[in-house]
Amino acid sequence: MTIDPKSYAGYLQLETLLASQKPVSAAVGRPAHDEHLFIIVHQVYELWFKQVLYELDRVEAIFAGPWVEDRDVAAAAAGLARVVEILKLGVRQIDLLETMTPLDFLDFRDLLFTGSGFQSLQFREIEVRLGLKRENRLRFDDQPFEHRLIEPEQTRIRDVEARPSLFDMVEAWLGRVPFLETAGWQFQEAYRSAVTAGVREEIARISDNPTLGDRQREGQVAALEEELGRFEALFSSSPKDRATPAPGWRMARGAVLAALFINLYRDEPALQVPFRFLSHIMDIDETLTTWRFRHAQMVERMIGRKVGTGGSSGHSYLNRTVEQHRIFSDLFALATFLMPRAARPDLPEALRRRMALAYAPVNGQDGAPDARSA
Ligand code: HEM
Repeated sequence: MTIDPKSYAGYLQLETLLASQKPVSAAVGRPAHDEHLFIIVHQVYELWFKQVLYELDRVEAIFAGPWVEDRDVAAAAAGLARVVEILKLGVRQIDLLETMTPLDFLDFRDLLFTGSGFQSLQFREIEVRLGLKRENRLRFDDQPFEHRLIEPEQTRIRDVEARPSLFDMVEAWLGRVPFLETAGWQFQEAYRSAVTAGVREEIARISDNPTLGDRQREGQVAALEEELGRFEALFSSSPKDRATPAPGWRMARGAVLAALFINLYRDEPALQVPFRFLSHIMDIDETLTTWRFRHAQMVERMIGRKVGTGGSSGHSYLNRTVEQHRIFSDLFALATFLMPRAARPDLPEALRRRMALAYAPVNGQDGAPDARSA
């Protein structure tokens, strides 16, 4: 049968798509009803993974150059917002797969042999392109993680690893944010003293709190001192240090401070889009983490404590990836060092003007009532 390429079926290549579900259980003469759902769910994931990678192509193209056009950051943020919605759908799909019971799964699980989501090249590519580094991955045997993929895929994943990830590009972009200092004012100094004073006040409050026992008091003070130490480690006057991470952080000091600055002063017009962009990155990290957690729970429900078909310890391995495989946790840690708007150090007026919207006069007339010069 020839299909008209201009028809619905032709345009969508439905002949190929809908002929691509081939339950093995039926082929070996012991049809298991739920294998059809199992195949479709996995295929739909792979299609969405393809779209995620496609969106990442555009975001990477925007961030790959030596500078990033402001107007392009909004396009990148829109791409990431779409990725977030796809990942949320991925989390929801687990509910659908769970309409298959463990007993239904057992009807065909033995036919999967060593096949496992572990071998999803596109999933691995998403992880790597977002910025999951080899050295931060959980090890469960002596083999490199890509060993589970077939040969051409191993090469592909190593090639992708050799390129800068979204994490690397965002770190470099944050490192170039221009507003962190202006004549006679440096964000790092103004904010450092404000946070230090705030934490010292909190320590004093805890020390004077009569409702706390000695051990509780000491514990809370020690935790705050530790956080303060982590914060202090971000500061260094040497430009070389600013390009490297402080102990306990993954992102370079300068990039972390810029992200903090964007979070604190996000109401300024020039920072609104960068703030949205960073928020979507956090949404991606959080939704991927939620997926890992839901997938691990689903796996426990389906196979209990059995080892996986891919050879890992199964649920226990997956559970540990939930925290360990987070990529942008530095951005989440920043909330520890935020302070109420009223307590923020004021920005110098000249800097606020630089970050304001500026309207050019039209036909020699100043058309905007609140026009400012940048
Ligand atoms: C009955 C349903 C499922 C079961 C029992 C299951 C089981 C497992 C197990 C045990 C692992 C650990 C590796 C191994 O030893 O095999 C794993 C990994 C994985 N699975 Fe599933 N899975 C199921 C459905 C899915 C679905 C629908 C997807 C969607 C693509 C998926 C994607 C993955 C991925 C990407 C990994 C690698 C995770 C990582 O290494 O961080 N799985 N799965």
